[in-house]
Amino acid sequence: MPYDFTTFIDRRGTYSTQWDFVQDRFGKANLLPFTISDMDFAIAPEIQQALEKHVTHGIFGYSRWNHADFKEAIALWFSKRFTTTIDPNTIAYSPSIIYSCAQFIDLYTQEGDGVVVQTPCYDAFIPLIEGRNRHLIANPLRFDGTTYHLDLIDLAEKLPRAKAILLCNPHNPTGIIFSPEELSQIVALARQHDVAIISDEAHMDLVFSPHQHTPICAVWGDYPKVVLATSTAKGFNLASLGGSYLLSNDPTIKERFNQQLKRDGLSSPPILAILATISAYHQAEAWLEALLTQLERNRALLNDFFTQHLPQLQLHPSVATYFAWIDISSLHLSSAEVQQRLINHGLAIMKGETYRQESPLFLRMNIACPPSKIHQSLIQMHQAFG
Ligand SMILES: Cc1ncc(COP(=O)(O)O)c(C=O)c1O
Repeated sequence: MPYDFTTFIDRRGTYSTQWDFVQDRFGKANLLPFTISDMDFAIAPEIQQALEKHVTHGIFGYSRWNHADFKEAIALWFSKRFTTTIDPNTIAYSPSIIYSCAQFIDLYTQEGDGVVVQTPCYDAFIPLIEGRNRHLIANPLRFDGTTYHLDLIDLAEKLPRAKAILLCNPHNPTGIIFSPEELSQIVALARQHDVAIISDEAHMDLVFSPHQHTPICAVWGDYPKVVLATSTAKGFNLASLGGSYLLSNDPTIKERFNQQLKRDGLSSPPILAILATISAYHQAEAWLEALLTQLERNRALLNDFFTQHLPQLQLHPSVATYFAWIDISSLHLSSAEVQQRLINHGLAIMKGETYRQESPLFLRMNIACPPSKIHQSLIQMHQAFG
């Protein structure tokens, strides 16, 4: 492997949410953290060089995103990774994916309206919807004891009460992806009920072969009430640079979004984010492939250990994201007891209830780290539950 995903890089003392602020969430400092969506890996050297070049240049004045270099890099990426042709004119810059989701909820719905979410769900979706006085309508993923499935029948029943669907594909926290057929059916149902779709595809680059991510724009046809929000933050570990983008084939609503961005004083992009995105899409595909290989190895490490030494813990067969979604119901402990044992044994791992997964009990463990950190966690987990 030409890239290094095994050397441990100490992130402590870098204002890292994952490492330096673990006490905020777990009530104790210095836990080994497997929490928020970022990686303990250094970024692709190609992106690092692009950033260093600009840092050396030394000027960080205002920048713009509406140029061919940014838009064509995105179009190229969708073409080569997802075999999807996109019109560069459908692209708009947004400061963050969550900002896009928030603004499009405001644009497509009114207070009191329903917004459908597949549960369990990414925790930030909950305040995003409920904080805007919209109704979160759960469309629970069906758990068959092994994996999760989209419930289209339940979705069809709930859409008459909704004005928008906030989709998450690949799905955080379960790591499933929606097939082109499922997505086409979601679009057909949305069209039938005149419901908008806001598709958060933050984890689109983290899908394990032979599975393939299908962006919603590949199936939206001529239905205009769909927006795709994504970025390089997850796949290339660039979250704190800021910046993201969206695709919409409705010029009117895209213009309303751009006007809102101006009103909020957020229309100037951070230059380092723009450069990083262009570099990622042109230069870092090989790094991403190597990363995916490492993530699969980490999953295998966890799976083998659970099978041999901790059979009460069951790894959900995810095909995307760097989250291990772990069924802990066979421990026959309450979630509070599980958390207490993990914390007592020095581990910070997210509980399933954070994502509205109440029963059976799950943990969401971020495994985007060198294998040595996974090994260490397994020793501590074995002490906690073995
Ligand atoms: C599904 C999903 N969407 C969005 C985000 C956050 O993206 P942003 O920081 O661009 O708002 C995350 C990060 O954890 C995520 O997992």
